Amino acid sequence: MDLDAYVRALPKAELHVHIEGTLEPELMFALARRNGVALPYASVEETRAAYDFSDLQSFLDLYYAGAAALVDEQDFFDLAAAYFERAHADGVVHAELFFDPQTHTERGVAFETVLDGLERACRDARARFGISSRLILCFLRHLSEAEGFATLEQAMPHLARIHGVGLDSSERGHPPAKFERLFARCRELGLHAVAHAGEEGPPAYIVEALDVLQVERIDHGVRCEEDAALVERLAREQVPLTVCPLSNVKLCVFERLEQHNFRRLMEAGLKLTINSDDPAYFGGYVAKNYVDTARALELTRAELARIARNSLEASFVSDAERAPWL
Ligand code: HPA
Ligand code: ZN
Repeated sequence: MDLDAYVRALPKAELHVHIEGTLEPELMFALARRNGVALPYASVEETRAAYDFSDLQSFLDLYYAGAAALVDEQDFFDLAAAYFERAHADGVVHAELFFDPQTHTERGVAFETVLDGLERACRDARARFGISSRLILCFLRHLSEAEGFATLEQAMPHLARIHGVGLDSSERGHPPAKFERLFARCRELGLHAVAHAGEEGPPAYIVEALDVLQVERIDHGVRCEEDAALVERLAREQVPLTVCPLSNVKLCVFERLEQHNFRRLMEAGLKLTINSDDPAYFGGYVAKNYVDTARALELTRAELARIARNSLEASFVSDAERAPWL
């Protein structure tokens, strides 16, 4: 069996994917036309050609511009339905989707429009493919604590449909501690908590996410390597890291995949997973992230199977739900 087929056949969970980051230019243009929304580029080809990023912010500027094409409930359904089709082809049995309500409510799209469309796609994926899923509401860290609390207020009537909260957007200059009270309130409400940390930000942000926000997983976390004591802690506590190798190269965290620290972190005993982050922008869905990383870093099939298993163990499903996959 070739490597690609082997990877696709591994049952896996995707734990770090921004649903807005799965918006392929073709669908972006179709939705923009349907909704009469102007996009910054004239064509699908021009849009793809612009996906040449120098850092996180240069990507986020395009990512937020593209998200403007999403207006109606059906748009959010179409977006997530397209993701689930690709995820199924990649052997994903469970997906925990990040969504950024503030990106949409700021433009006048109702919180419910976003949630209803995504949730309908989650139910549809369960029925069509047997994929289970969860929704994780991400707060935009470049916005204020007060704006975060206002978003939580909008989410309150729907907490049964939201499984956890996360923290994304521009990392530098927006440390996790800025959201200490918001995350404390979310945890009180019984929500799971994760945060992006140590993608572009320093290792201290990872420590803050763990100690101040009390998150259960770290999204990215690759800069932990600059702090030996932190690496040792992450290994000892088996804190899952949701690593996104193709994203890290596209956003210049590492110059080339061959230089990624994934293998070193794995050998240090960390509980690592492989994910796609924003696959429509970064050049590959989850299986391609596994395959390209394996080729670049000479990961064995046994190591890939361990990584897929880590993703199932690190997911927020119950042990009963997880059992058939392990
Ligand atoms: N980092 C931070 N925020 C994001 C990302 C990311 O990789 N993708 C979408 N929002
Ligand atoms: Zn991310």
